[in-house]
Amino acid sequence: MWKAGLTGGLVAILVIAAFVSLGCTTFFGPAICSFDRNRAAAVSASTVKTPARHAYYVRNGVPSSYRGRKNPFKATIGNVVEGSRLYDLRCAVCHGMMGIGDGEAGDKLTVRPADLSASLAQPLYGDDYFLWTVLDGGRAFGTDMPPFRNDLSEAEIWKIVTFMRAAFAESGEGASSTARDATSPPN
Ligand code: HEC
Repeated sequence: MWKAGLTGGLVAILVIAAFVSLGCTTFFGPAICSFDRNRAAAVSASTVKTPARHAYYVRNGVPSSYRGRKNPFKATIGNVVEGSRLYDLRCAVCHGMMGIGDGEAGDKLTVRPADLSASLAQPLYGDDYFLWTVLDGGRAFGTDMPPFRNDLSEAEIWKIVTFMRAAFAESGEGASSTARDATSPPN
C-alpha cells in the first residue's frame, strides 16, 4: 500500500520536473501558455544563422584544418546520453533545451543564439561546420558564441553533435526555412 503511494509521489515529481524544465509550451502549445508568449515570439524571430558566418562559409568553406572532418561517434544510447549531458551543461543556457535558440542567457546578447534545429537541417552544413563553430566560437564574427577549444575535447564535441542530430534535427521551425536558405545567396 505505502509502496503504491510512494511510486505515485515519484511519478508526480517527475512530471512536475519535466514540466518545469521543458516549459509550458512544450506540453500545451503557445496559445495556452500566455505567460510564455513573448518568449515564443522572440524565438521565432531568432537568428537561424549569423549572416557574417554564413557568408564566410559560402565563400571559403570551413578553415582547412577542419575541412572534411566527420563525426566518428555512432548514435548509440550511451553517446547520445553523454552528449545530452554535455549539451545541457554547456549549451542549453543560450541555445535552449530543445536547441531552438531560446536559452535564458540569449536574451541579453546582441546576436541571438542560433536555432540549432535549423542549422542541423541545413544540408550545406556538414559535421566539419559544427566542429569549427564550437571549437572556434564567434569571435571572428563579433558574436558571443564562446570558443570551447580549451573546455571541451573533440570527442566531447562530437558526442554533443551526435546528441543534437538525434534530438533536434526534426524539431520545428527550422525545417521549413532551411530549404530556402540552401539555395538563397548569403545575406
Ligand atoms: C553564451 C551563449 C552561448 C553558448 C553557451 C553557446 N552558444 Fe552557440 N551560439 C551562440 C550565438 C550568439 C550564436 C550565433 C552567432 C554565431 O554563429 O557565432 C551561436 C552559434 C552557434 C552555432 C552556429 C549555428 C549556425 O547555423 O551557424 C552552433 C553550431 C553552435 N552555436 C553550437 C553551440 C554548442 C554545441 C554549444 C555548447 C557546447 C554552444 N553553441 C554554446 C551563443 C552561445
